[in-house]
Amino acid sequence: MYDWNRVEARSWTGRSIALVDETLRDGLQSPSAIDPPIEVKLRILHAMADLGVDIASVGLPAAGARTQRDANALATEIARQRLPLRASAAARTVASDVEAVVEISQRAGIPVDCYAFLGSSPIRLYVESWSSGWLVERVRAAGEAARKGNLAFCLVLEDTTRTRPEALHELFSVAVDAGAVRICLCDTVGHADVRGTRALVEFARSTLVEIGAPHVQLDWHGHNDRGLALGNALAAVRAGVDGVHGCAGGFGERTGNVPMEHLVAQLAELRIRAAVPKPVIAAYARTALTAIDSSHAAHTQRQNTEPLVPLSFRVNGDAVDLAVRPSRTLLEVLRYDLDLVGTKQGCDQGECGACTVLVDGEPVLSCLTLAASTAGHDVTTVESLSGAPKLDPLLDAFDHHGAGQCGFCTSGMLVAAKGLLAHTPRPSRREIQHAISGNLCRCTGYGPIVDAIEAASLAPMDPAPVLPLPGAGPMPAALPPHASRSK
Ligand code: FES
Ligand code: FES
Repeated sequence: MYDWNRVEARSWTGRSIALVDETLRDGLQSPSAIDPPIEVKLRILHAMADLGVDIASVGLPAAGARTQRDANALATEIARQRLPLRASAAARTVASDVEAVVEISQRAGIPVDCYAFLGSSPIRLYVESWSSGWLVERVRAAGEAARKGNLAFCLVLEDTTRTRPEALHELFSVAVDAGAVRICLCDTVGHADVRGTRALVEFARSTLVEIGAPHVQLDWHGHNDRGLALGNALAAVRAGVDGVHGCAGGFGERTGNVPMEHLVAQLAELRIRAAVPKPVIAAYARTALTAIDSSHAAHTQRQNTEPLVPLSFRVNGDAVDLAVRPSRTLLEVLRYDLDLVGTKQGCDQGECGACTVLVDGEPVLSCLTLAASTAGHDVTTVESLSGAPKLDPLLDAFDHHGAGQCGFCTSGMLVAAKGLLAHTPRPSRREIQHAISGNLCRCTGYGPIVDAIEAASLAPMDPAPVLPLPGAGPMPAALPPHASRSK
């Protein structure tokens, strides 16, 4: 048999392609994934090492105290167990985020590669009102902070697949001057096809040669919005990147990332990396997917000695009767008992606002609210925005204004906005900013979010109220002590 697939592959002999596993960062940002407890993350980390992953992301330490604690524990595990992989951590291109990575590296006593990200496409500059000069300053500041902390600096250019060549040329030059050892090319919204991927990688490679930095390595990080993530990753490898990113099962932001299992199998098939035994690949997938599945049993096991108490309340207008443990949070009941996974589990300790829902029309943090305290009340989640008779104007407005990027904050933002507009149909921009002040957007997308909420407020009013009306059922005499969202 003659195999045309191998004609080009022969010329790849000797090339080394690094596997960069983003399961513990990007993968956990999938709308249908939970952020598992640290002992589960440690099992995933060991499975990565068994699989032959070269670089494992330990998270975005600046996202909150819990993320920082987990990132520290993961890096420490790599050091203590001498796992055969490098740690990396994500940071925005701001000094404080990079310093959070420095702290992880120093505490664990191992190098942690700093993947500092920045949006670079014209659409991002437009919606954020950023100038190209401001981007340059941010790259310099992040590189300087990494250099001071003795970190390997990798510049991650979000939405590279829609960024102009002259902008890339400038940012590459600044990054190299700032000490970058890697540049990560991102297909952030799954826009690219195979031709575009190849053209971009070839341009990036030749630009690095032109500016005298052929030693700087290139990564590829692609999403699956058009179902092309794996094909694009392989095209990037063919075109000359040094590392490719993937996540277990393809779970990742929005529609997902490149499935790491497929990447491992395909690179072995192409004889670029050694074959990994199928049971090892299966064990990796089983470990990770069990952990990030929304029905993961850990959330019920830790409470299973408590007696059950009855809970009757309304969720998005429907009467719900359950038996719950007294310590079970509203977030856990919504996500794991009622399968309403639109409410995100972010920090799990009241810092990020991703878990915001409405109780009797008021925003609360469901991660800090005991489910039992909502007995007799009306709970409204993000799922209510897509209900009959038509989509809520907020959804259209967020879409039109590009108000969601990775999606981590989006459902909390939408619900906070829904609560605001129910009480204040025509809010000022200041009132909008106040209403979302407890919601953290790690992609720094506040400008378009405020624009979107303002635009939704100007949309024709929906005659059918989405929020449950007071008096729709029996109410207790006093409101429960919900966790207030206001800061
Ligand atoms: S999950 Fe972050 S505030 Fe609740
Ligand atoms: S955190 Fe990514 S869109 Fe807000």
